[in-house]
Amino acid sequence: MTFGSNEESVQAVVDTSFNVTNREFMTIVGPSGCGKTTVLNMLAGLLEPTTGRILVDGEQVEDRRKYSVYMFQRDLLLPWRKIVDNVALGIEILGTPRRECRQMAQEILERFDLGQFASKYPGQLSGGMRQRAALMRTLLCPKDILLLDEPFGALDALTRAGMQEWLLQVWERDHRTVVFITHDIEEAIFLSDRVLVMSARPGTIKLELEIDLPRPRKRTIDTSPEFNELKSQVREAIYEEGLVTDEME
Ligand SMILES: Nc1ncnc2c1ncn2[C@@H]1O[C@H](COP(=O)(O)OP(=O)(O)O)[C@@H](O)[C@H]1O
Ligand SMILES: [Mg+2]
Repeated sequence: MTFGSNEESVQAVVDTSFNVTNREFMTIVGPSGCGKTTVLNMLAGLLEPTTGRILVDGEQVEDRRKYSVYMFQRDLLLPWRKIVDNVALGIEILGTPRRECRQMAQEILERFDLGQFASKYPGQLSGGMRQRAALMRTLLCPKDILLLDEPFGALDALTRAGMQEWLLQVWERDHRTVVFITHDIEEAIFLSDRVLVMSARPGTIKLELEIDLPRPRKRTIDTSPEFNELKSQVREAIYEEGLVTDEME
C-alpha cells in the first residue's frame, strides 16, 4: 500500500499476505507506524490496496464493508448521547428502528454489568467503562468479523488486563472472527489463536505464530514457560530489526 504518487509518496505496507479463518482470534502486533491501521483499513474496505487483492471466501467482493464492523483506535463515543444511545448507534446506522436499538443496547449493557450506567453520559464514566461501551456498540452490530484497532491502547495496565479477560469471555460466547491490533506482545499472545508480527515501515509480516495455549485462558497463564517461550519468539522477530520500543515491553 503506497500513499501518494509523487516523490513524497509513502510506502506503508509491502508483500503482506495472510488468511483469517472463520471464528479465529488473530492479532497483528508491531511497532507504531508499521502499517497496522493501514492493513485494518484495507480489510474494512475503507482503503483499496494499491497492489494486491483482498478476498472474502475466496472471492473478490464488491463491498467489503458489509462483512465487518470496525472499532477505531479511539472510543469515539458521542459526548452528547447517553451511553445506551451511544451503544445503539451502530445498529441504528444499519437501519434498525430506534426503539428496538435502544432495547438491544440496554440488554447488552445489562448483560455485561453496565446496565446502571445506561443513562449516564460518556464524560461521567471511567476510561475502562467507556471502552467497554464502545466495544459493546461494536459487538451489537451483526457482522461476522470484528476489526479492533488497539482498543485497549489508552488504558492503564490493570484496567487493560480486566478488559482482555472480558473480551475473551465475550468472544468465547459468540465466537466471531476477530482481527485485533496491538503493539503489546503479551496482549497479543494472551488473546490470540494466531499472531502475526509486522516489521517497521514498509510493514511486512515477519513472523506468523500459532498460539496453542489452552482455553479458556486465565491471567496467570502469562507466567507459564509456554507463554514465555512464545513471547521470546515474538520478541526475537522484532528485536532482529532493533524494533522493540519501551511501549512494547
Ligand atoms: N493517509 C495517509 N497518507 C500518507 N501516509 C500515511 C497515511 N496513513 C498512514 N500513513 C503512513 O503509513 C505508515 C503506517 O501508518 P499506520 O498504518 O497508521 O501505522 P500503525 O497503525 O502501525 O501505527 C505511517 O508511516 C504513516 O505515517
Ligand atoms: Mg494504528
